[in-house]
Amino acid sequence: MSGAAVWGAPAGARAGWRASWGLPLLLGLLLLLLQAGRPASSVSSAAGIAPPRFNVSLDEAATRRWLPVLQHFDPDFLRTALATIIGETVPSWVHDVLRPVALEMDKFLPQPFEGEIRGMCDILGLSVGDCILINLSYEFSAFCTSIIAQDVNGNIYHGRNLDYVFGKFLKKLTINVQYIKNGQIAYTGTTFVGYVGLWTGQSPKKFTISGDERDKGFWWENAVAGLLRKNCPVSWLVRSTLEEAENFEAAVIKLAKTPIIADVYYIVGGVSPKEGVVITRNRGGPADIWPLDPTNGEWFRVETNYDHWKPTPTWDDRRTPAIKALNSTGQENINFDTLFKVLSVVPVLNPLTIYTTVMSAAEPDKYMTQIRNWG
Ligand SMILES: *[C@@H]1O[C@H](CO)[C@@H](O)[C@H](O)[C@H]1NC(C)=O
Ligand SMILES: *[C@@H]1O[C@H](CO)[C@@H](O)[C@H](O)[C@H]1NC(C)=O
Ligand SMILES: *[C@@H]1O[C@H](CO)[C@@H](O)[C@H](O)[C@H]1NC(C)=O
Repeated sequence: MSGAAVWGAPAGARAGWRASWGLPLLLGLLLLLLQAGRPASSVSSAAGIAPPRFNVSLDEAATRRWLPVLQHFDPDFLRTALATIIGETVPSWVHDVLRPVALEMDKFLPQPFEGEIRGMCDILGLSVGDCILINLSYEFSAFCTSIIAQDVNGNIYHGRNLDYVFGKFLKKLTINVQYIKNGQIAYTGTTFVGYVGLWTGQSPKKFTISGDERDKGFWWENAVAGLLRKNCPVSWLVRSTLEEAENFEAAVIKLAKTPIIADVYYIVGGVSPKEGVVITRNRGGPADIWPLDPTNGEWFRVETNYDHWKPTPTWDDRRTPAIKALNSTGQENINFDTLFKVLSVVPVLNPLTIYTTVMSAAEPDKYMTQIRNWG
């Protein structure tokens, strides 16, 4: 994960600095202040704790719908902390470079995301440029593991670990959100407070999605260019797919084809046998589509952060331990519990793991996220 290198990297060491090392720095600052603003009693980071769950109404205006969630925070504190931390910690050249770029961007950002960001930002009295900047800084994902599996009865299970530095903060910001439309749960996702995109989510009785970072030396300039061309941030596409796609197939097509601002892996599970796939994305379109093939014994797919047709680097092989654990579990024994156990095998579970989610679109009530605790 490139974020780990952020703190050690001399400022300006690389002129065309990569989003994946520059932006996590800002992410960290935001998290620092957000976590400090959180009421101490509201959440625990202990092992196996379910995150708090909130309803967010899609029938409310975009600018207002996050209010009930934000009310759990002290806005004065957030403002002061943001100003202090950005002012004292971000090298001013970084801020100077990013601020105008972020300001420009709000003209190009799609709804409802722009409205949601602006709404929260207004409440907190922050500059829109700073809000967008920090929100885009979440366009990361870092080390992740996603698994899609089919049991002997044709049921589909989907699990993921989300791993990132700054876990100390992120664990306290992790929430499950139920997006409500017409009084019904339109879709569910796991995210961090204040972040409008999704890396993990479920459209009930239809499909589930997770996203894992695909780091191909992606440059900030490319991200800006992508946005100006109205390409979608990676995590926003997950959310709009959950919102709009009618079924597994439609979701796969949308996730495979919609232009996005960075490479990524999308893992998608459906409700019927064989509905499981790993989509390897380039910004412009699919690089590879890798479906389950249960009739040939390929009843699961494991995706970490490397193209599946290439070996993993020896210094970061989470793929082999996950495959071994799935092999020894066996297709006849795979279910929510055993998939969770596979995602708990070291180093699939590791010190950076923030949360584990297991889900199955056919059984939407069993959507389960646990905040993980290492040691
Ligand atoms: C990011 O956007 C959200 C709205 O989605 C807002 O609440 C939050 O304050 C923004 N982050 C910052 C620090 O600007
Ligand atoms: C969230 O919305 C669902 C669906 O409308 C509802 O059943 C549930 O009671 C709501 N939960 C809260 C905490 O408001
Ligand atoms: C898992 O099982 C498959 C099929 O038996 C085998 O080809 C593969 O080598 C096994 N992989 C690991 C890492 O144990």
